[in-house]
Amino acid sequence: MRLGGELGVNGRIHDGDFIFWFVHDISPADAREGAVRAYHLGGRHDAEFLGDVLQQHKMQKDGLSILDFASGYGRVSRHIARVVPHAQVHACDIHEDAVRFLESIGIPSFISHVDPDKFTAPQTYDVIFVLSLFTHLPRRTWGRWLKVLADCLNPGGLLVFSAHGPHIWRHWNRCPLDADGYVFHGGSEQKDLSSSDYGNTLTMPEYVINVIRANRLHLESYRSAGIGDHDVYVIRAVDDTLRLPSPEQLAHQHRLHVVAMQHYHSKIRPLVRDYRIRIKRTVKHLYRAARNRN
Ligand SMILES: C[S@@+](CC[C@H](N)C(=O)[O-])C[C@H]1O[C@@H](n2cnc3c(N)ncnc32)[C@H](O)[C@@H]1O
Repeated sequence: MRLGGELGVNGRIHDGDFIFWFVHDISPADAREGAVRAYHLGGRHDAEFLGDVLQQHKMQKDGLSILDFASGYGRVSRHIARVVPHAQVHACDIHEDAVRFLESIGIPSFISHVDPDKFTAPQTYDVIFVLSLFTHLPRRTWGRWLKVLADCLNPGGLLVFSAHGPHIWRHWNRCPLDADGYVFHGGSEQKDLSSSDYGNTLTMPEYVINVIRANRLHLESYRSAGIGDHDVYVIRAVDDTLRLPSPEQLAHQHRLHVVAMQHYHSKIRPLVRDYRIRIKRTVKHLYRAARNRN
């Protein structure tokens, strides 16, 4: 509580806050106070990281609406409003008691859904921050969550999310990956979530970039590692002039090009050749006629 006050935030920690217990369990024994300190300073550090990203990406208008998605019990959310002044900060998590707790410490919050297609947000946002959710999602929902969250951005808005990439892979003993750079291991510290919905996920940049391209999203930056050992990706909600074609659109353009070239070689080129020959003959004829006249 005391440290929370020093940092200008509500310092309460919910008993069910598994992130706190994770920090606690890796702290030296008898060190609850140290764990509380590490929890709050870690949250402030991660909020400051978001503040830096917003500065670098020129998102500094007053009254930014920011959603801390998959916020847990507000380890980071409570610091965002301190770090990004005049922002309206909302939070969202799958756990009802986390949402209730967040509301009780003054952060407007709403409940999520395990199925991205059933998720609805009460409004759209200028910034959506997702720290350590894509690090846990199965292949089935990974790309769908990215698209659903990107669709909740205001025009020009930013989706800032972390992923486990090359830096974590070293600590996973460089385990075998699927050919597209993805791997999922079921089971996690959150025993109440099904291990097929929430486990441990590693996504190499080529996988993430393919998902981004397949959904026609616009990647504005990639940092590896960005926050701790996590990679950080920043997606901007842009209009069509900046959007790259999807792989399907590229394939379609390529097919059109092939058809056009076939048409050129089979129909147009012979005509052009014929035309050139005729011009050459006419010029020769005119030349000969001119010579005969003289
Ligand atoms: C590793 S924790 C990260 C918490 C917080 N972002 C932080 O850094 O302290 C992952 C969070 O994702 C939440 N979560 C899992 N599935 C979710 C879903 N479908 N929608 C929203 N949140 C989800 C969990 O409840 C958990 O709070």
